[in-house]
Amino acid sequence: MTDSQKGLAGVTAADTALSRIDGEEGRLFYCGYDIHPLAEQGSFGESLYLLWYGELPSRMALTVFEGLLAGERRLPAEVESVLRALPPETAPMAALLTAVSVLGQIDADGPNNGFQADIEKAGRIVSMIPVCVAAHHRLRLGLDPIEPDPDLSLAEDLLRMLTGERPDDVASKALDKTLLLYLDHGLNASTFACRVVASTLADLYAAICAGVAALSGPLHGGANEQAMRMLDAIGSVDRVDAYLDRELGANRKIMGFGHRVYRVEDPRASHLRRMAEELDGLHGEPGTYELARAVEQAMFARKGLYCNVDYYCASVYRSLGVPLDLFTPLFAVGRAGGWAAHVMEQHRDNRLIRPRARYTGADERPYVRIDQRND
Ligand code: SDX
Repeated sequence: MTDSQKGLAGVTAADTALSRIDGEEGRLFYCGYDIHPLAEQGSFGESLYLLWYGELPSRMALTVFEGLLAGERRLPAEVESVLRALPPETAPMAALLTAVSVLGQIDADGPNNGFQADIEKAGRIVSMIPVCVAAHHRLRLGLDPIEPDPDLSLAEDLLRMLTGERPDDVASKALDKTLLLYLDHGLNASTFACRVVASTLADLYAAICAGVAALSGPLHGGANEQAMRMLDAIGSVDRVDAYLDRELGANRKIMGFGHRVYRVEDPRASHLRRMAEELDGLHGEPGTYELARAVEQAMFARKGLYCNVDYYCASVYRSLGVPLDLFTPLFAVGRAGGWAAHVMEQHRDNRLIRPRARYTGADERPYVRIDQRND
């Protein structure tokens, strides 16, 4: 394996008709539609429908689709009791992993990988993940979960289930847009993990568990939380240079910057930067945007690195009042739709994903019995 293939860089490992990334031009498409008009004029539900059915929905089709999904938005008693049994300090991504695993155990269609069963299960998963995230958050605060309200959009209901208060239109639309932007992104690490699991003919729930696990790491979805922690640690614009000198001098990665595929700006970042500016100070003190912008400019000047999707999404979630350790679970709420689409695509035209490893260990050597080995 050459150096450039380490981490499978540059390797094409699947065919997909879902999203296309042009890393040189900084463009992203869902089923052929440019992300920019989708983000500006579309919605998460519409983009989800597009990924699952390959076409944009009519108004009627979207209403029916969103109605069906809203009807699946609930917290099964079995999941609630497992979430209640978790230690209060359980990380929200670990709780979500547990919840998805339990959801799989109580779904009678769990092991059925047929298209109809998969798409129905996908609807249940996408609808119940936000309920599980909100319920775990309430429970760890010693509060009861809040019942979902199927009359609200997924984004609006999620914010309400977290805080107990119905959010305004600006906040729900902002969350909806972040979910749309997080929905799918080629063969990113968590999606690849889902496809590997699905390729063994394991079921959708097992594959989504793999996606949640892979997303939790700071080099992937965990970066939105870590980017905010960094901004909090820097604290003010006048401390940006000293912070970056120290971290880059110690060869540490700056969270929210760099990307495996994009050589120019991540097209999702421009929407999130604008939202971060518009929403700054909606909750808490304003100033996060100014600080984030200063770090972004300093990183570009020093390393020529652009920020990625997670960087300004962190500022948006801060402005929406989302607790820090729920930033990555919200990424999972959006990405779950993409994971499900990839699993269905894999199940429809499957071949076991099983690459090889180049062996770098010891040459062949004789076995020595334990009583003949030196201490
Ligand atoms: C996501 O792939 C996807 O689609 C992911 C995603 C999605 O939608 O699913 O877009 C979402 O996960 C975004 C990425 C979130 N992660 C981070 O923000 C963590 C910080 N970023 C880096 O660790 C890194 O840029 C990665 C992990 C995103 C990409 O890693 P690569 O492709 O393996 O790049 P690399 O680590 O080999 O870096 C290449 C060079 C190195 O310098 P040189 O040794 O060549 O001199 O760029 C430097 C790196 O040191 N570099 C960074 C850096 N990112 C790259 N230096 C400092 N800080 C950084 N963030």
